[in-house]
Amino acid sequence: MATKSPFNLSRCARPNILALQPYTSTRDDYANDDGVILLDANENNFGPCVPIAKDASSDAAAANTAHGITVQSALDPAALQLHRYPDAHQIPLRQAFCDLRNTCKDTAARPLTPDNVCLGVGSDESIDGIIRAFCTPGKDKILVCPPTYAMYQVSSDVNDVGVVKVDLDAEKGFALRPDAIAEALSGDASIKVVFICSPANPTGNLIPHADIKKVLQHPTWNGVVVVDEAYIDFAPTTSLVEEVNMWPNLIVTHTMSKAFGLAAVRLGLTYSPHPISQLLNNLRGPYNMSAPTVALAAAALQPEARARQEENQAKMAEQRDRLIRELPKIPGVGKFLGGFSTNFILVQFLSKPADEGGVPDNAIATAVMHDLATESKVLVRYRGTQVGCLGSLRISVGTEQEVTKVLARIRKTLKDGYGLKTKQ
Ligand SMILES: Cc1ncc(COP(=O)(O)O)c(C=O)c1O
Repeated sequence: MATKSPFNLSRCARPNILALQPYTSTRDDYANDDGVILLDANENNFGPCVPIAKDASSDAAAANTAHGITVQSALDPAALQLHRYPDAHQIPLRQAFCDLRNTCKDTAARPLTPDNVCLGVGSDESIDGIIRAFCTPGKDKILVCPPTYAMYQVSSDVNDVGVVKVDLDAEKGFALRPDAIAEALSGDASIKVVFICSPANPTGNLIPHADIKKVLQHPTWNGVVVVDEAYIDFAPTTSLVEEVNMWPNLIVTHTMSKAFGLAAVRLGLTYSPHPISQLLNNLRGPYNMSAPTVALAAAALQPEARARQEENQAKMAEQRDRLIRELPKIPGVGKFLGGFSTNFILVQFLSKPADEGGVPDNAIATAVMHDLATESKVLVRYRGTQVGCLGSLRISVGTEQEVTKVLARIRKTLKDGYGLKTKQ
């Protein structure tokens, strides 16, 4: 029996924390064993840009020899100094990220320096840090543009910060609505942070820089604009990162989880003007970057790893084109939503084939997701309840074999009949 104690969790913990629901993903709903194909979280299924040397005879080892750098060589135990705290400032790594992004020819944009960078344990830590830096709990708010990345809301809930929503315009390909955002900002001075995701998750479209700049140009609002560019390296465009020294209140977030294929390493970063970057660096834990994380990130920025990343991106683009080409040939598959500037697609499923008058249908989308998971061990993400995304699944782009499996299962599920709908 527990010791008698005056402690009462529900009266001791913060009410907003007590109200939190545990984070769940498709991986909690379906078996996630070795044979499962993971197309639910937009990871890089083509592998890390720093390859793992397994055995000398494998294809991977051959590729490693060509690229000369491996996870094993990056994680030299002696160099890691595991008994020491890691460097608290990580200036060389921050400089390497600046070198990666300093390509701008525009002389008005001052080059990025380490003073513009703050490293985080994934973008998720960066997002949380920004909210904590600018929003007073129980008083201030953030503004998000649904459908969008869920962690903006989660971090706000953790921090007891309100969330104002200005939906993307689903009728116009999930375009940003700068005028509606401006109106919201004019009407509510407690909004301190606007999150804009571009390329967008889950819709995969790019938000034009001109639209983002309209928000930055608000004449009276005192707050920061965060552009989450987690997927920028998949997009046929330049990053806004090179403009952070041109705007006093622009923060751009990047991550190594997507194009670099290093989701397990947990490294995200912000680029922002020095005064903001200073705040974010003051706020983060001094040793938030572990030595293995820093070593792998540094290896990923070497030319060999960049070359491998580009090879993987070309393979991903090939398979994304294949999905774009093949999915519409399957009766019952509806429209793609949004755009194709990421390593995933968002596609609708219909109540019956389009030529029989089918309309987007959440029950069919759910049934397809369930069938993919249970019959083919492929996990994808159901997005049917998101604004403007009725009947949709978000499918990360996998390897050639994985895409073959996805296409075959969807074809079979829909061919076997819409009776599935009544089985729910
Ligand atoms: C838009 C967006 N931002 C950030 C992240 C998270 O990045 P990280 O793995 O660096 O926390 C994701 C992950 O799916 C994402 O989709």
